[in-house]
Amino acid sequence: MLNTKLEFAKKVVRQAGGFIRQHLSDDLEISEKTHFDDLVTNLDREVQEQILTQILSTFPKDHVLAEENDVRHDIKDGNVWVLDPIDGTTNFIVQRDNFAVMLAYYESGIGKIGVILDVMSDNLYWGDGTSAYKNEAQIHLTVKPLRQSLIGVNTYMYRTNAGGLLDLSHESLGVRAIGSAGIEYVNILEGKIWGYFSNLSPWDYAAGAVLIAPFGYITQQIDGRPLAFEGRQMMMSVPSNQLDKIKAYIK
Ligand code: IPD
Ligand code: CA
Ligand code: CA
Repeated sequence: MLNTKLEFAKKVVRQAGGFIRQHLSDDLEISEKTHFDDLVTNLDREVQEQILTQILSTFPKDHVLAEENDVRHDIKDGNVWVLDPIDGTTNFIVQRDNFAVMLAYYESGIGKIGVILDVMSDNLYWGDGTSAYKNEAQIHLTVKPLRQSLIGVNTYMYRTNAGGLLDLSHESLGVRAIGSAGIEYVNILEGKIWGYFSNLSPWDYAAGAVLIAPFGYITQQIDGRPLAFEGRQMMMSVPSNQLDKIKAYIK
């Protein structure tokens, strides 16, 4: 069954990417959610609706936790799909680049499937928590020490030293900020960044956490507590065998 669900997830995410690319030069309907810089487009909503409909018609007993339109099911309750229809909406609007479609699947709060599509490169990253693939090729990742690496950051947390992030950055070669959690996870998988520190909602980290787990990564709150999969939380995805070294900085 898990394999059927994995193939389903890869298919619907690839279809969503094709749909978005087909509509790239359309006039977007852009609306503000909570603030002028918190935007959503008609394509975010259409993609969510398309994937949600396919999930519920294919797996009618499953549940969904998704970003738009208050689709909120408790991650710990049964079989739950976690969907971010367009991650990096601001990048999508301004750059038409650096955005992702993300879908994850959890059983009683345990991550079983993670899928991220870098929409413009059309590269699909997928995995089941034990191995991860880029399109058809298995990913092999050797994590370097922090002092030979870059880290992905949320710029507000970085400049205010929230959680000690600015202090930690002095132990690295520098920081980078992309504006899409999904692309940050892709960059971890590509060995371009060592870890990622941000303030995120469940749909921002659900797929990424599953995808990087095979390489010894842990995704948790910045203070070490497990993620709650509700609301925004300051979090980090880091190599678990280097946790001790960063504890002097990250609190
Ligand atoms: C956002 C992006 C961004 C992160 C924000 C998220 P959205 O997702 O992942 O990188 O810093 O916190 O909300 O709203 O574009 O899906
Ligand atoms: Ca989104
Ligand atoms: Ca997002």
